[in-house]
Amino acid sequence: YKDLLGLEHLDKKDLQTILDSVGPFKSLFTRSVKKVPTLVGKTVVTLFYEPSTRTRNSFEIAAKRLSADVVNVAVNTSSVVKGESLIDTGRTLEAMKADYLIIRHSLAGAPDILARNLNASIINAGDGFHEHPTQGLLDLYTMYEKKKKIEGLRVLLVGDILHSRVAKSNIWALIKMGAEIAVVGPPTLIPSNIEDLGVKVYYDLNEAIKKVDVVNILRIQLERQQENLFPSVHEYVELYQVTKERLAMAKPGVLIMHPGPMNRGIEISSDVADSPNAVINEQVTNGIAVRMAVLCLLKPKRKNASSN
Ligand code: CP
Repeated sequence: YKDLLGLEHLDKKDLQTILDSVGPFKSLFTRSVKKVPTLVGKTVVTLFYEPSTRTRNSFEIAAKRLSADVVNVAVNTSSVVKGESLIDTGRTLEAMKADYLIIRHSLAGAPDILARNLNASIINAGDGFHEHPTQGLLDLYTMYEKKKKIEGLRVLLVGDILHSRVAKSNIWALIKMGAEIAVVGPPTLIPSNIEDLGVKVYYDLNEAIKKVDVVNILRIQLERQQENLFPSVHEYVELYQVTKERLAMAKPGVLIMHPGPMNRGIEISSDVADSPNAVINEQVTNGIAVRMAVLCLLKPKRKNASSN
């Protein structure tokens, strides 16, 4: 593939190929020299129109470990603020010989527009409510690493499914790999057609949490809510916060995951976030190896000699 725009259109074999590619990169972390020359001479550009701590820095570290040159576009001080279009910005970066362009944008479909107009490999680092494929992949890899299987694994996504691109990428990947997926949250934050995908819907967290192997807790995206959040934050905390009392109702080895950034005290209590069941920091570490694998597997289109 040239681009990674989402997980919806990947099949089980594609996902398994990615999972199988991650281990060797992860084993590099234990070496004193963590770099390999795979992408020497290649240029990776990050273009983030929305804030990020994990994804942008993880891509930068992944690309540097592969010996690529990395340029981080500071969108707020770029010509985007003078009104330059997305395609013109992309073409400008490609004219500087970018081989990979990693984009985060508030609009669903923005990475797809660049992919159709550029030879560079485009990687979606999160687009609106649509997808966040490398987060989906690192979640999948972390479940696979910890539980040794995905087929038949029972995974519960908790909270704001409606606004969550992480939830969408998790659902597409987990369905294809044969997991059983359930969601739980207030009816206002669960898409009405989600059961059509084979996802079980719960509204009672106390009931849902008892049955699962993995609990992936989503951030309440207050910045994407309309003015009148229902339920209120107070009601949400009462009904859907994953607390130590609720963790005690779950299976003893249940994995607690969160893509970050966490709203401690809203969707997750601090004692759960820091509990032995939580693998939240390991998700972040795995993100580097997953992104190394993705950068290596994608193939930018070859430019013809006259354009050099
Ligand atoms: N999980 C995630 O996308 O985090 P950032 O917003 O910090 O990149």
